[in-house]
Amino acid sequence: MSEKVQIKEVGPRDGLQNESSFVNTEDKISWINQLTESGLSYIEISSFVHPKWVPALADAKEVAKGIKRKKEVTYAALVPNMKGLEGALETNIDEISIFMSASETHNRKNINKSIDETFTVLQEVVKEGERAGKSVRGYLSTVFGCPYEGMVETEQVLKVAHTLFDMGIEELSLGDTIGVANPKQVQDVLGHLVANLPKDKLAMHFHDTRGTALANVLASLQAGITTFDSACGGLGGCPYAPGASGNVSTEDLLYMLHGMGIETGVEEDKLLHASLFIEEKLGKNLPSRVLQARKGE
Ligand code: HMG
Ligand code: MG
Repeated sequence: MSEKVQIKEVGPRDGLQNESSFVNTEDKISWINQLTESGLSYIEISSFVHPKWVPALADAKEVAKGIKRKKEVTYAALVPNMKGLEGALETNIDEISIFMSASETHNRKNINKSIDETFTVLQEVVKEGERAGKSVRGYLSTVFGCPYEGMVETEQVLKVAHTLFDMGIEELSLGDTIGVANPKQVQDVLGHLVANLPKDKLAMHFHDTRGTALANVLASLQAGITTFDSACGGLGGCPYAPGASGNVSTEDLLYMLHGMGIETGVEEDKLLHASLFIEEKLGKNLPSRVLQARKGE
């Protein structure tokens, strides 16, 4: 198992996209600045999607322009199409993240296109994004199950993943969008994917809907994966995946990894400080177990 892991903080994007209350732009900026101070090396700050579909992130441009940046941190944002890329390029975002699903129905519900139509759109986004000097990350959703279709064949995951790598993405984040995976399944699916894709370019993105996310992280570590997405406070969800709840919480992940002697470069207390800040802004207890335990100390 690796002695070092990179955590990609997706709280400001995945974490807020499903929230019904709008967090003020100033507060988002302040939160992201606190996340930067915690030692994270990667923060996904927002989404350049249609504000009608994801109103919570309608201020992506203002957020991207307002944050205090550190040069050792990569700031990323989600981009679904050329219109989104245009918006992203008006800011100084470092990396763009394209996204699609392994299952046809979730892909249509999420981005209003078939899988084949999406390839055409994303190919252009990757080409133009790279031409503009941005690195490009890819997300593949519903890898371990789809809210509309149930089980998703690993061969189908592999097919879409190959096409995304062929487009030129630098990393692929494999999403358990609705938090249905278990460690045995993760072992089986990753066994297949790692044999056919570049392992050091794979990241895992576990939602914790059924409480299996940390166990799934452990199974992924055992399969040699060293990059994990997580969200401060355990925020998260997908508006087009009914029943999906938060991402694995960054503080729970840090607690487990640090306890196992695995380095992340992130300071737990500073991260916790950022979680308390956003918890107060949202006005409700967040799902992170470590956050709730520490509040009781
Ligand atoms: P569409 O309606 O098919 O787009 O939406 P269109 O190309 O037909 O254009 C229709 C109108 O939308 C036009 O405006 C466009 O300009 C505008 P009009 O001419 O009618 O005035 N438009 C846009 N406006 C702002 N930003 C844009 C944009 N694109 C078109 N980027 C679209 C397609 C993808 C935009 C829409 O379906 C959408 O915004 N979907 C949101 C999807 C989303 O954000 N989902 C959550 C993130 S994915 C996720 O959470 C999973 C992940 O975490 C991994 C995991 O957990 O598995 C990543
Ligand atoms: Mg997600």
